[in-house]
Amino acid sequence: MTDIAVVPDPRSAPAIRWGIIAPGSIARRFAREIPTYTASSIVAVGSRDLGRAESFAQDFGIPRAHGSYEDLVADPEVDAVYVASPHSEHRDHAILALEAGKPVLVEKAFTINARQAGEVFAVAERRGLFVMEAMWSRFLPHYQTLKKLIDEGDLGAIRTVMASHCQSLNLDPAWRMWNPALAGGALLDLGVYPLSCFHYLFGRPSAIVASGILTESGVDLKETITLRYGTDVLAAAINDMSAAGVNRLSIVGDAGRADVADWFYTPQDIKLTRFRESIEGPERLPTATEGGFQFEAAEAARCIVAGKTESSIMSWQDTLDVMVTMDEVRRQLGAHFPGE
Ligand SMILES: NC(=O)c1ccc[n+]([C@@H]2O[C@H](COP(=O)([O-])OP(=O)(O)OC[C@H]3O[C@@H](n4cnc5c(N)ncnc54)[C@H](OP(=O)(O)O)[C@@H]3O)[C@@H](O)[C@H]2O)c1
Repeated sequence: MTDIAVVPDPRSAPAIRWGIIAPGSIARRFAREIPTYTASSIVAVGSRDLGRAESFAQDFGIPRAHGSYEDLVADPEVDAVYVASPHSEHRDHAILALEAGKPVLVEKAFTINARQAGEVFAVAERRGLFVMEAMWSRFLPHYQTLKKLIDEGDLGAIRTVMASHCQSLNLDPAWRMWNPALAGGALLDLGVYPLSCFHYLFGRPSAIVASGILTESGVDLKETITLRYGTDVLAAAINDMSAAGVNRLSIVGDAGRADVADWFYTPQDIKLTRFRESIEGPERLPTATEGGFQFEAAEAARCIVAGKTESSIMSWQDTLDVMVTMDEVRRQLGAHFPGE
């Protein structure tokens, strides 16, 4: 039996009081999972509209609703802020919280580009406060186990890696993902998962080649990205927001292969095939778990209570590196956001 990575129990992390900026669709999942799977609680929610904040608060039993993000970050009962607005707003909302003295967990993609990410980290550094991109997958047991398998040489020398993230998303051109002003497009919403996964496992790419198709509104509808890591590892990512494809990850070494089936970035088991022992068939590593967001929230709580400004698993530099890669992909595709 292959050992799976030991991941700290999210319920054993310190209890903190979260406030949510922007009660949209993903905030609902955060509001559901954090009280269910950690010792922490959601004590306040802020919306641009008080009615929306009140309705969200009622749905999740959250004690306080605020009709502005300014009021939310000023709430003395809030220990840390979760930012769940569109990408275009992340920089301003993260800085709003930091300047109010609150640590922040910011949804992926962290900002629209690396320049904005650097601006957020500069404020966090000046204020001595924690900030982390909410790239929840990195904290999941199967990502931790994949890293362990690779780092300990279980797969041998890595040769190729493939990941795809293709969904049939809301085709309404008015929706945020079609809107350049809200930093829409497949890359920042979907492609960030393959790219951040590759970065976590292999570091910075040494070469990037992207090809894609833009929407009439000018955001990327889909793309293929080929990356090289070091001299020997080639990786390919396919992202598409127009049709439901497979969402799998395969990491191939010269001694074995690790496969994660749909959806590779959510809690899943790993199928491990060792080439020398293939006669025995693949081994299933039981890394799937309930929920998912509790692992990132627990990491944030541990870091905040320990007085750290960043997580070693999703460091500021890692976020910057992924943003630099995405900036380069968009440059090659000719997909620019207003003001860039
Ligand atoms: N971790 C994951 O699995 C996951 C999954 C999906 C999305 N996400 C990420 O979560 C973030 C939000 O995505 P979502 O799908 O939840 O978005 P959404 O449903 O559109 O919600 C975004 C919310 O942001 C607020 N907002 C603030 N400024 C806005 C503006 N200028 N235009 C529109 N809305 C604005 C709105 O709330 P109020 O107006 O009420 O304040 C809105 O409800 C994105 O970064 C996305 O990539 C993460």
